[in-house]
Parts: sequence; structure tokens; C-alpha cells
Amino acid sequence: MNQNYLEIIPGELKTADLHGFLLGAVSPRPIAFASTIDSMGRKNLAPFSFFNVFSANPPVMIFSPARRVRDNSTKDTLQNVLEVPEVCIHVVSRDLLMQMNLASNEFPSDVDEFVKAGLTPIPSDLIRPYRIAESMVQMECEVFEIKPLSPNAGAGNLIFCRLLKMHVHKSVLDANGKISPALLNPVARLGGDWYCEVNAGNLFEVEKPSRIPGIGIDALPASIRNSRILTGNDLGQLGNTEKLPDANEIREILNANPQWKGKHDEETFHRLIALQLASGKKQEALALVALGTPEALNS
Ligand SMILES: Cc1cc2nc3c(=O)[nH]c(=O)nc-3n(C[C@H](O)[C@H](O)[C@H](O)COP(=O)(O)O)c2cc1C
Repeated sequence: MNQNYLEIIPGELKTADLHGFLLGAVSPRPIAFASTIDSMGRKNLAPFSFFNVFSANPPVMIFSPARRVRDNSTKDTLQNVLEVPEVCIHVVSRDLLMQMNLASNEFPSDVDEFVKAGLTPIPSDLIRPYRIAESMVQMECEVFEIKPLSPNAGAGNLIFCRLLKMHVHKSVLDANGKISPALLNPVARLGGDWYCEVNAGNLFEVEKPSRIPGIGIDALPASIRNSRILTGNDLGQLGNTEKLPDANEIREILNANPQWKGKHDEETFHRLIALQLASGKKQEALALVALGTPEALNS
């Protein structure tokens, strides 16, 4: 047992408390704003953050209206998809957040959340539930399986949805016709009452590993691997490279960076490597790694 870790075993704490830890840990979660109808055609909206996409071929998303921990009752959305197995799933952008939150109130079944939340219903093309006009991404789906996980309070009900048609507002597309996360500005759910949003200020890109596997941190010189300066993120970048630069490349990089010459101890040498990585100069960082020691810089 490690004193630094809280150990949690399901069954040893109340479901409500376990629920809190699970939602705090598995976060941020995307939000499906689900539009359904019952057999009488009454409209319903509700958000679900137990949600994700699981397959592109077939295109499948799953969300889960859970049995309430409080009284083991079920959600209208579940009843609706049992009656009419269709759902339109919407992405919640920052400007839809508060109306989505309003729609999550536990209104009686006969209350139309489109009306309560002031959202505009527009007919779908292929299914009976309505689309939310204000949402920038609307996904018309058929429900092909409903899998209850247990009859107990807190149990999820997995609703398997096959995408039939997607509507993407052109205002959220970038110059290449792809969805821009900054323009979509989606919000996500975390633990407790916490949310986060994706915007231009908090986005960053991480290049995917190439098809040729990286050399791995274990292939870096021991002095680099055991550095007190270089972090796990630094080493992760250095190890995620196909090969270290060869002698020619190193020479070219050294010639282009005469300012590196001078007195370095191991610490300042490692800081120099970290600085290259932080400035997006991975080849330069790798050249220094391949050199191995600060003395080699001046030779
Ligand atoms: C952002 C957000 C995410 C939610 N995610 C879930 C969820 O994944 N599962 C769930 O059962 N309830 C979830 N809820 C609560 C339901 O939206 C809420 O119980 C709602 O009243 C259900 O509506 P319905 O009875 O019309 O289906 C969430 C609420 C919010 C605000």
C-alpha cells in the first residue's frame, strides 16, 4: 500500500461516492445533447456525458442514461428510445452551455425541454426526433441496441446509436473543410460541477507517432534518461523519434548554433536540450542528446 494513493474498491464505499470518484477521474467527458420523442410524439432533450464515439465503420456512438442513484428511477430518454429507437445527438458549444444545463432539469415527462430551454426544434431528415437548430453539429442516429448493465440504482443503460446523417454548420469548418476545435468551441464535463471548454487559447497539437516506431526512452543515453532537469514529457519527445541524428546532421546543427559553445555543466547542458524542445526544435535537441556530454559541444 502506497501512502500517497487513496485506494478505492467498488463495494466498499457508497455508490454515490464511487460515482463522484469515477466522474472526477474519467474527465473531461464530451456531452451528447440528446433529442428523442416518445410514442405519442412528445419531444425530449437531455444531456449525457457518459458518451463517446466507438467506431467509424459502422459509425457508432454510445451514451448512457443511468438509473438514478437516489431512487433507482430511470430517465425519460431511456423510455423514449425504448418506444422510438431514434435519437439526434448534438454537440454542445460554449454558447449552448447554459441552455443545455437548463434542459438537464428533471422536468416531468410531458414537458418539452425545447420550450423550457428556449431552443428551436427543426425536423430531422431521416428520423422522427427533432434537431436543435442552435447546435453546430447534429447527428441523426438509429438506436440498434439498448443494453441495461443492471437493475440496481446507479446502473447505466448503454444506448448504441448508428449514425445515419450528420449536419455540420459551415461556420465551424477550417480552410481544409475539417471541423476546427477552436471554431466548434465544445464544452466537456468533469467531476462535480466542473466544466471545461476547448478554445483557441488552450488548444495545442501533438504530432502522431510515425509508422516507424520510435527508439524509446530506453535507447537514450543514461545521463539523459536519469536527468534531474529533463521531464517525462521531454524524454517522451526525445524517445519518440525514428533515429538519433548522424554525425553529418549533428555537425550541421552545431555549425548553425555557434552560440551553444561555452562552459556547460551537465545541468546547463540538459537545460539547453529542454529549451530546444520547448521552442519546437526537436532535431536540435536530438543532436545535443546524440552528442551526449557538454564537453562534446566545445570539441
Ligand atoms: C452535462 C451533463 C451531463 C449529464 N450526463 C448524464 C449521463 O451521462 N447519464 C445520466 O444518466 N444523466 C446525465 N445527466 C443528467 C441528465 O441530463 C438529467 O437527469 C436529465 O434530467 C435527464 O433527462 P430525461 O429524464 O429527460 O432523460 C447529465 C447532466 C448534465 C448537465
